[in-house]
Amino acid sequence: MHILVLNGPNLNMLGIREPQHYGTQTLADLIDMLEHEAENLGVSLECYQSNHEGDLVDKIQAAYGKADGILINPAAYTHTSVALLDAVKAVQIPTVEVHISDPDIRDDFRKVSYIRQACIATIKGKGFAGYIEGLQLLANLKK
Ligand code: DQA
Repeated sequence: MHILVLNGPNLNMLGIREPQHYGTQTLADLIDMLEHEAENLGVSLECYQSNHEGDLVDKIQAAYGKADGILINPAAYTHTSVALLDAVKAVQIPTVEVHISDPDIRDDFRKVSYIRQACIATIKGKGFAGYIEGLQLLANLKK
C-alpha cells in the first residue's frame, strides 16, 4: 500500500511559525515520525510539501493509479482552494484532511474547508498526532 502525504503552504516553517498554534517541532520531525509509523504499518510513503497550489494539484493528479491514500494538510489552501477539492474528486483516491490546530475554533475565515467534502475524514486540533491517526486510518482501509 502506498500513501501520499501532502503539506501545503508555510508548513515548511513549522518550528518557527506561530508555535502557540503549531508547536515547536519541525517538518523534518513530522516526516521522521510518519516514516517510522509507516514502517510499523507496512506501508510506503511519499512526503511532499509545497507553497504553490498548482504543485499540490499536480501531485494529486500524479498519484492517480499509484497511491492508495492521500493524507493532506492543505494549510491556507483549505480555506480558498476549489482546485484542490476538484483534484481529489478527479482522482477518487481516499483522502484524509489533517490540521495541526483546530481551524474551526480560530478565525471565522478558517471555518470553511473546500476540500472537506471530498475527504473520508477530517482530523484537527491534535498536533502531529493527528497525522499518525490519519495514516493509520488510511492503512486500515486495505485490511
Ligand atoms: C493549518 C490551519 C490553517 O488554517 C492554516 O492556514 C495553516 C495550518 C493547521 O495545520 O492547523 O497553515 O492547516
